[in-house]
Amino acid sequence: MANGPYLRVRVLGAAAGGGFPQWNCACACCTLARAGDPRASPRTQDAIAASADGERWVLLNASPDVLRQIAASAFLWPRAPRHSPVVALALCNGDVDHVAGLLSLRERQPLTLAATGSVLSGLFERNVLLRTLQRFPGQLTRVPLSLGHATTIAGLSITAHGVAGRPPIHLRGVVAPRPEDNVALEIAAHGRRVLYAPAVASLDGLPSLDAPDVLLFDGTFWSSDELVAQGLAEARAEDMGHLPVQSSLGALAAARARRKVYVHVNNTNPILVAGSRERLAVEAAGCAVAFDGMELDA
Ligand code: MLT
Ligand code: MN
Ligand code: ZN
Repeated sequence: MANGPYLRVRVLGAAAGGGFPQWNCACACCTLARAGDPRASPRTQDAIAASADGERWVLLNASPDVLRQIAASAFLWPRAPRHSPVVALALCNGDVDHVAGLLSLRERQPLTLAATGSVLSGLFERNVLLRTLQRFPGQLTRVPLSLGHATTIAGLSITAHGVAGRPPIHLRGVVAPRPEDNVALEIAAHGRRVLYAPAVASLDGLPSLDAPDVLLFDGTFWSSDELVAQGLAEARAEDMGHLPVQSSLGALAAARARRKVYVHVNNTNPILVAGSRERLAVEAAGCAVAFDGMELDA
């Protein structure tokens, strides 16, 4: 890392919705993780933390596991009787694994929440539970993110880029899909840039993968038919809004980003298992598989 101020980036949770192992799953990977096999470390659900100064942190996505993630991360612990280094959150979409943690952050802490208009309206116009974050004036400050426009929060420049995806499952058939339902978040400070894209259905329309210092990319599934082949679901990866690693690995291998990391990894994905053929293929392409606590400072 260069001298001088830098952009702090930490993986809080590296697994997709359900976590790893998933409570109701006994696939090969979950079975290994549950047995305590060192090749298959447990992981909590998808979230990243970023900071321009090490004092104020922005959480990218509000994982259902946010309290465990904060407990495991001393840099997110309070520094006064009532205080939190967590000053804001920014959301990639309205999926439950990216928003459920908001309900766990309700203890009268002022927070800023940045997301696109469609994600904010999906959350607040249809969900009475989130009124728990509006217990007093100024508790939650909503910041709408317009696609392609940078917004500065806690010294971080945050830009949402629309990427191919789908509305959250619970809003399917309720709202018409919109380009801003699912975004990649570009975070910049001190001339360093990170692109966090945990849900990408297609490479079309993505911002340049060359630009960032750190690229965190959708690693949900290894193959299109991963769930179908294991008899776990009917849907193919792309139908669920996730391009399989097999289809993105060439693009990531060619990208000039300094660190290239697969995140939001589903518990069925064999890249979770160190030494597996699929993990070795990811590593041979110059990419890594994220784990909870991974430091990606740029
Ligand atoms: C996904 O990433 O596909 C979603 O997290 C699925 C879900 O909301 O259960
Ligand atoms: Mn998800
Ligand atoms: Zn599993």
